Order: sequence, then C-alpha cells, then structure tokens
Amino acid sequence: MWESFIKEKIREIRETVGNGKAIIALSGGVDSSTAAVLAHKAIGDKLYAVFVNTGFLRKGEPEFVIKTFRDEFGLNLIYVDAQERFFTALKGVTDPEQKRKIIGKTFIDVFEEVAKEIDAEFLIQGTIAPDWIESQGKIKSHHNVGGLPERLNLKLIEPLRDLYKDEVREVAKKLGLPEKIYNRMPFPGPGLAVRVLGEVTPEKVAIVREANAIVEEEVEKAGLKPWQAFAVLLNVKTVGVQGDIRAYKETIAVRIVESLDGMTANAMNVPWEVLQRIAFRITSEIPQVGRVLYDITNKPPATIEFE
Ligand code: XMP
Repeated sequence: MWESFIKEKIREIRETVGNGKAIIALSGGVDSSTAAVLAHKAIGDKLYAVFVNTGFLRKGEPEFVIKTFRDEFGLNLIYVDAQERFFTALKGVTDPEQKRKIIGKTFIDVFEEVAKEIDAEFLIQGTIAPDWIESQGKIKSHHNVGGLPERLNLKLIEPLRDLYKDEVREVAKKLGLPEKIYNRMPFPGPGLAVRVLGEVTPEKVAIVREANAIVEEEVEKAGLKPWQAFAVLLNVKTVGVQGDIRAYKETIAVRIVESLDGMTANAMNVPWEVLQRIAFRITSEIPQVGRVLYDITNKPPATIEFE
C-alpha cells in the first residue's frame, strides 16, 4: 500500500514542480526527512534541502543530518549555522509562547534569506495531520505550520498532510531511511529551547542536551519503546550535599510517555532501575545538576512538553 502512496506522491511532486526549483526545511526529524527524500526522488537536485542549526538541536544531530542526507542520500543540502542569531533573539525572553514565536520568526528570517538566493518557486513541507489539527485548536503555536509559505510567496506542497506519525514511519522505512530516523522520537521544532524553562542560554541548553542524551541512551539500552523520552531543565535550583558541603544546583525533570499520536499520552511505567540509572548518570556526569525528578502526569491534563 505504501509503495503506491510513494509512487503517487513522487508523480504529483514531479508534475507540480516541473522545471522549477523547490526548497524544504530539513530538520532531521522523521516528517521533514521523509518529505525531503520523497521530493528528492521526484525532482533530484531541483530540491534544495536547507538544514538550519538553531543551537537547540540534540547531541550529535548536525553531524548526523549532514552525513545521512548529503553523503548517503546525495541531497542538495545547505547547512546554515544560525546558533548565535537564535540565542541573541531569545535573550531575556521567558514566556513560552513568546519563545516559540521568536524562534519561528527567526527561523523564517534565516530561511527567507536562503530561499531568496535559491530563487525557488515551491516549498515542500513535512506537515502531518496532528500538526494542522492541533494548530487549528490553538493549543500551541506550532511554528512548523504557520507563516513560511505566505511570507516567502512560495507554493506549498505537503505530501504527508493526511498521514499520522506511525504512517510516516512506514513510508520512511519504505524509502530506505535509516532506522535511527524512522524510529526516532518526535522532537519539537523549537527544540531544546522549550526544554529549558524560562530564559534560554547556551549554558543551560548544553546541560539539557547532555541530560537528554543520557535519557535517550538509557531508554534505548533498556529496550523501552516510548513515544518520547526526554529531559527538561526546570530552571529551579535545589539544595543537595556534596561531600561535606551544601550544594545548590539545577533540577532536571525526566519525561517518558507512551502515546499513539501525541494527542493524548500516558506517563510510562518505567522500571525503577532504569530511572535510578538515569538519575545517577545525570547527576554524576553533569556537574551543574543536583536533582532528577520523574514526571508521572498524563496528557491531559499536562501536555507532553513542559512549555
Ligand atoms: P504537547 O506538548 O502539545 O506535544 O503535548 C504534542 C506533540 O507535539 C510536539 N510539540 C511540538 N512540535 N513544534 C513542534 O513541531 C512545537 O512547538 C511543539 N510543541 C510540542 C511534542 O514534542 C509532542 O510530540
């Protein structure tokens, strides 16, 4: 069934783009990766895949994305290091929605500059069904849905628009994407910036990036298959002991949830040893962290992300 879906989408994209050029914002997540490879199969080098390093990516992600898509899949990949620009734009900002808006706007600014140089006519987007369903309900402003095509005066192509996450994973698998991508947990567009509560600084992002890598590693080692597993820097300092001295350090919350589509979710019943190992590793490998908490709340009432 997915073979015919792929064939049909390739035909549609090829027909729509014709001799024009198309661009896509490639994040390395399953949705945009699938859309990018699909479009690349359809139009080859007429697709320009723009990969923006916002500074909020997971550990090792920029290297992995470049290696996979430029070296292995042969995509026409444009890498933009915009880390400083994003951190500067977020200086002093603490409100979650404000953070999302600024990240979204900065992203569009960066993307627009690249798009103008390429002079493309089409924008391919990996939007999937829950993206536009949730953004209609205005639960959160998902920056990957709004804004881009209108401002850039580009014609939008959304090959995955009717699919849910599990279906996108099937398509990705059929397209030959590596398991690390099609089995990857969802990751929000604003990235680690919404996993540092309140003001975002390079130092705080570095802490949550390390903690997040530990959570992902231990969950994988334990053979667990949650919908998402991640770390959040609460930006609350708590007291602890270190030898004979009183320490005052950061707190990390661990969130591991099971879900079918992200619309509702349950906190996962993770074996105690796994949680203990995560807490031990985070507090011993990251000197700034003194306490680790496990979030046991379902969605609803809580959302999956903390911001
Ligand atoms: P929430 O936190 O609303 O998340 O329960 C539902 C799913 O969406 C992801 N998420 C986002 N994805 N931009 C995104 O692209 C965002 O701003 C955003 N906020 C949340 C979240 O990781 C979960 O999978």
